Amino acid sequence: MSMQTVVTDSPLEATGFLNRGGLVAFPTETVYGLGADVFNPGAVAGIFTAKGRPSDNPLIVHLQDPDRIGEVASEINTPARALIARFFPGPLTVVLRKNHSVPDIVSAGLPTVGVRCPSHPVAAEFLRHCRHPVAAPSANLSGRPSPTDWKAVFHDLGGRIDCLLRGEPSTIGLESTIVDCTADPPLLLRSGAIGLESLMEVVPDLELATSCTPGDAPKSPGMKYRHYSPEASIVLVEAPPHDLLQLPQAAWIGLSPPPEGAILGMACRSPEEYARVLFGFFRTCDAAGISTIWCELPPEEGIGRAIRDRLFKAAGN
Ligand code: TXA
Ligand code: MG
Repeated sequence: MSMQTVVTDSPLEATGFLNRGGLVAFPTETVYGLGADVFNPGAVAGIFTAKGRPSDNPLIVHLQDPDRIGEVASEINTPARALIARFFPGPLTVVLRKNHSVPDIVSAGLPTVGVRCPSHPVAAEFLRHCRHPVAAPSANLSGRPSPTDWKAVFHDLGGRIDCLLRGEPSTIGLESTIVDCTADPPLLLRSGAIGLESLMEVVPDLELATSCTPGDAPKSPGMKYRHYSPEASIVLVEAPPHDLLQLPQAAWIGLSPPPEGAILGMACRSPEEYARVLFGFFRTCDAAGISTIWCELPPEEGIGRAIRDRLFKAAGN
């Protein structure tokens, strides 16, 4: 598969490719997405091919206008309404019952559909001009860390997609929080920037899906796959070791300063910064031929829960 990938700064130009059935990568505040027209099953099939994505993993549907959710969902129940009112547009996906117009290839045969309205202004402008909602997973090759800047997208998918809409790096850096509103009580399927504490202010009976607990069986189909992985092996620690025990080619990322011996080290000033730089750091380590990345687990609160989740997944748990 090889085609010319047009790189553009124009949301309108990118929309043109999408409306003609093409594949378009676009920036969002969480990570970059790879979009296709949700009502064009042939175009959506192209997403799975371009990414090498397993076909039993459903896609999130993106819209600019929450008032248009009815184009893909058959029902917006009370918890969904509350979450949408409070957090849309933003880094949250709600899983709703789908309507019959959503092709099976989008929902991987499930009776539900994940819906999200990104707050990123370039994404909003792009989506506003698209004729239909846009099905989009993260714009990485399957299994690789999600891309948080356009260069990472180009590295993975250049020559495999029609258009790359270039924007600023993603400000959050981790994928959206996912809440399954069709479950009773609603279930947190994936942690993200909107933390459990904030969600529970709106949906007090929210429960943690077992997929949010490392090692348990997946509720969200995508949770069973090894994810977010750099080439290097990952070592998770609750606190920095005194030195990296002469391990060759070792790197460090965490809230604490790098221990002695790290040849690449990133000390983040806050959990938010940790989230923003994590996937880019994994990619930098791969480019530098790092063999082991030591990652410090942040406290399990707010976005820290999402960072821990991605670290456990990257480590293969
Ligand atoms: O922030 C994000 O969510 C980014 C940007 C591009 O919006 N997208 C993203 O998509 O992370 P993806 O495909 O990499 O991850 C989507 C996750 C997968 O784990 C998938 O299984 C789950 O969402 N998912 C999608 N539809 C679902 C559904 N109907 N029920 C349960 N899980 C669903
Ligand atoms: Mg992904």
